Amino acid sequence: MASVSTPIVQADDLGKTYGSGETRVVALDGVSVGFAAGELAAIMGPSGSGKSTLMHCVAGLDRPDGGTVTIDGVQTGGLDDRRLTELRRDRIGFVFQAFNLLPVLTAEENILLPLTIAGRTADPEWLESLIGTVGLGDRRHHRPSELSGGQQQRVAVARALVSRPAVIFADEPTGNLDSRSSEEVLGLLRRAVDDFGQTVVMVTHDARSASYADRLLLLQDGRIVHDGPAGGSDDVHARLRLLTDPAA
Ligand SMILES: Nc1ncnc2c1ncn2[C@@H]1O[C@H](COP(=O)(O)OP(=O)(O)O)[C@@H](O)[C@H]1O
Ligand SMILES: [Mg+2]
Repeated sequence: MASVSTPIVQADDLGKTYGSGETRVVALDGVSVGFAAGELAAIMGPSGSGKSTLMHCVAGLDRPDGGTVTIDGVQTGGLDDRRLTELRRDRIGFVFQAFNLLPVLTAEENILLPLTIAGRTADPEWLESLIGTVGLGDRRHHRPSELSGGQQQRVAVARALVSRPAVIFADEPTGNLDSRSSEEVLGLLRRAVDDFGQTVVMVTHDARSASYADRLLLLQDGRIVHDGPAGGSDDVHARLRLLTDPAA
């Protein structure tokens, strides 16, 4: 465990380029950022600005061309693929736009899956508190097809939380949800930070989602162009307008 003053996630001078020649795209252009324990950070920016690439490189789903990433005291660049997979499994939770639940498993089995794969069992009290927090007590034995989109994404959030990871990365977690289900899922991520001290880094294109965060980062052309307190959705909208139309 890192000490309180050390960021739980630290990225330094990350670079990532796709393609070559005419089709060369600089997706990340020297990005440095740290995330403190117990913080909910939102990353926004225009489509193609590098949000997903940043998240994938920091979370060990992809390798940057240059720069370093340290997660919970472990520098990921030095890990071979097997150890990187283990680090992801043990220290990182993921929530994606697509809920990615296994259709043949019940809600509870899906939540427990990261532990099952690792050959571990859940502390029963923690499992009960988690299922209560995500509000799925009466749905725990239902399969994904019997759940609404919002309920499925709440299962995915519980699954990300179950191993008490150092950090949860969420890429557009409400991208497939209506506004009420979005609020449920965002409220849940907020509570994970407030009640469990969870660290969450969320990519979103929705200003209302970002207003649930403590901190707002804006990406443009593969660089961080703003980093500050998130404020309300009006503040976030104003920031975004400045980004897309500097004369506004
Ligand atoms: N696998 C890939 N191959 C080629 N180009 C890619 C790939 N992934 C992303 N890109 C390019 O990198 C840039 C950043 O993409 P991405 O990180 O997905 O942006 P965002 O998530 O902000 O929309 C875009 O120009 C995108 O087209
Ligand atoms: Mg993206």
